[in-house]
Amino acid sequence: TERVLTGITTTGTPHLGNYVGAIRPAIASSLLEDKESFLFLADLHALIKCSEPEKIQTSTREIAATWLALGLDVNKSVFYRQSDVPEISELCWVLNCMAAKGLMNRAHAYKAAVAANIEEGQDADFGVTMGLYSYPVLMAADILMFGAHKVPVGKDQIQHVEMARDIAQRFNHHFGEVFVLPEAVVDDNVAVLQGLDGRKMSKSYGNTIPLFLPPKKMQKSINKIKTNLLEPEEPKDPDTSTVFQIWQAFASAEQTLEMRKAFTDGIAWGEAKKQLGVLIESHIAPAREKYETLMANPSEIEAALQAGAEKARLHSRALLADVKHAIGIRPLV
Ligand code: TYM
Repeated sequence: TERVLTGITTTGTPHLGNYVGAIRPAIASSLLEDKESFLFLADLHALIKCSEPEKIQTSTREIAATWLALGLDVNKSVFYRQSDVPEISELCWVLNCMAAKGLMNRAHAYKAAVAANIEEGQDADFGVTMGLYSYPVLMAADILMFGAHKVPVGKDQIQHVEMARDIAQRFNHHFGEVFVLPEAVVDDNVAVLQGLDGRKMSKSYGNTIPLFLPPKKMQKSINKIKTNLLEPEEPKDPDTSTVFQIWQAFASAEQTLEMRKAFTDGIAWGEAKKQLGVLIESHIAPAREKYETLMANPSEIEAALQAGAEKARLHSRALLADVKHAIGIRPLV
């Protein structure tokens, strides 16, 4: 059976980008007979970008409730919190000793931090922690620990999955075939979902549309999507429009064609946004009540996570033992 694995960093409220990029494809494949899924909350990764404990707690609760409300089956999938599986941190050290520093120099998140520093006239590495720098190594540990074949992610994470593959190859070359070589799976229809300001929808840009906003607030948020100053009736270019891009991520092929035509026919922005609100609501509404019930019941979420961690550790203990054996950390007799 094929193993599918993906995680979300617990630094904010899950948004439409997380949903279409990772949660929706991961849940769909987790329900298939011939797949085994590992879905987790990346709370050790959260520390890289966030030093607010309360925020990490709230986010953990929200992301867990989101996965569960959207139909993740905890009996069929392994659903856990990264920090509840200490073998991941242990493996991370071993992989740190395999990962080339030059490879880390090329990681997007690190390069972006350096570029921003230089732009502001700062020292290149100003504020860069070892956590940020070696972030792809922890992610490699997440992936390689469970022998994942496929990793459904948004485009922004492809590089990290490729780095995990690189690190695995290097380990296997030195110590034998211990790790499965993972592959990123990206939904080409979705690309990187844009946020309110047209940049990538991201917690760090503060331009997200949270997934489970109540309907009125959802519409208000959609109304804030930046559009160019075209009058109603003026033709609009769907291919450069955030409204259209989000529409496409939720609509059927037929609905997408219809909206494309409406754009060229000059649909008013207000009307397009209203229709987008209705479309998103039709996808989200069925899960919202479950989400709210779970949010009010943290002990139910915690119980699911603890049971999940036990299942995860059956795998992680065995794999870590293989790794240690392979590298020569084993009893003398
Ligand atoms: P994170 O928390 O930034 O995002 C979680 C997932 O959502 C996807 N995503 C998007 N997809 C489309 N459009 C967007 N605007 C958008 N924003 C986010 C991301 O690509 C990701 O799939 N390092 C990871 C978490 C992680 C992980 C892993 C993922 C840790 N270990 C192992 C896979 C496997 C991250 O920060 O994702």
